[in-house]
Amino acid sequence: MHEHSHQLRCVGCGAVIQPATVEKDFRCIACSELLEVEYPSWSAAGESLPGPRRMPNPGALRWLWQERLQSRLPIDQSGVWRFRELLPILQDPEQAVTLREGNTPLYRLLQTAEELGFEQLYAKHQGMNPTGSFKDTGMTAALSQARERGFQWVACASTGNTSAAMAAYAARARMNSLVLLPEGKISWSKLSQAIDHGAVTCQLKTDFDGCVRVLAEVVRRAPVYLLNSVNPYRLEGQKTPALEIAEEFDWQVPDHVIVPGGNLGNSSALGKGFLEMMHLGLSTKVPKITVVQAEGANPLYLSLLNCDGREIQPVEANTRATAIRIGNPASWRKAARVIRQTGGYCEQVSEAEIALAKAEIGQEGIGCEPASAVTLAGLKRLVRQGKIDRSESVVLLLTGHTLKDSEYTIDFHRDKLLTREESAGLERELSERRRATLSLEASSDAVLRVLEAAIQA
Ligand code: F0G
Repeated sequence: MHEHSHQLRCVGCGAVIQPATVEKDFRCIACSELLEVEYPSWSAAGESLPGPRRMPNPGALRWLWQERLQSRLPIDQSGVWRFRELLPILQDPEQAVTLREGNTPLYRLLQTAEELGFEQLYAKHQGMNPTGSFKDTGMTAALSQARERGFQWVACASTGNTSAAMAAYAARARMNSLVLLPEGKISWSKLSQAIDHGAVTCQLKTDFDGCVRVLAEVVRRAPVYLLNSVNPYRLEGQKTPALEIAEEFDWQVPDHVIVPGGNLGNSSALGKGFLEMMHLGLSTKVPKITVVQAEGANPLYLSLLNCDGREIQPVEANTRATAIRIGNPASWRKAARVIRQTGGYCEQVSEAEIALAKAEIGQEGIGCEPASAVTLAGLKRLVRQGKIDRSESVVLLLTGHTLKDSEYTIDFHRDKLLTREESAGLERELSERRRATLSLEASSDAVLRVLEAAIQA
């Protein structure tokens, strides 16, 4: 692929920026807004540009992407680079740094569907990626860019998952990584991944938004490549689950896709993926994309409620779903646009609703981390409000693996997670989902007594 196969466009003022001249903070020099990748030969925005248009042939692409599932080439085995025609961002895609990310399962949620009265309810489990979260799909794309551009150091501020992914991909590429984390506000599992993969790991006495501010200065003053989701190449990788979902639906796409919202890169990326697919004729419609936030970290929800998503007021974020404990989301403008363009919604959910939904997904044998469970909690609210009909098809995007935050799960089952006020109104549902761990004598009699009681129950 050639350098000029893509360019960057500012989502604020529309300025076009050539990749070689992009600023280190990936913001527009004229208006400071974020950039997005576009492909002059086939993106919708390219229609007004001079030069030849080479729209890819949808039938040929579908065939090629299926064929690659049989290949032994690492980039074909990656669920991101398998779709490389739609993300031609590297000079040589064969040099991509890959851990065989993507190609994640789409599970049918049978019990939950039955309880809620849905026929078609699915979970796309991005926690089944190599480092246990959806961040891997974006990291393979952006870190490969960093390497191609000759950087030796990459850096991110993170609530945990980005740092785990970055540290792993940097280690694979034999590059160095710097991680800034909010001290005491991320799970041990995620911290352990960053350390295990050799990142220089700094815990700062601030929150995620504070880490972002410090990192911005570090990036200005040191030769490090920024890998937060303001980096538009991250979103190119993170749009590929949209392609996988469409492929699983035989290119018909579901009616709704529900995504957790934190820094709001992921909802933006999925929207881009679905919209590009429709533009190229790969699918004939886009799903409604809905973003769900925790009540304690809900700036996009408030922005859409109060001013139709025209501006955002940062909030002081607080939720036990630490992955989405973000008060000043970078990609809010992109996410608000995706909700508008696809006809989706933005919803908020309480701590108790998150905990209950997480337990329900766990009892399906699937499991996820707390931030992912906001999707199911949000679905229930939208059904009650009549915004989603039970006859419609819905995909919940589960963003992280259940083992990402075992402390949360154990606290939930020991009833140490929520306060009485937080549980109010959901006490019965919550207690029905709690499972005790038992300490017994090492005797079969003791175990059989427990088993009998369980059978009776
Ligand atoms: N779910 C999980 C498990 C996450 O780790 C994140 C974000 C989100 C949802 C929200 O995605 O930011 O694109 O809206 N985690 C980031 C991190 C911020 O540093 O790992 P988003």
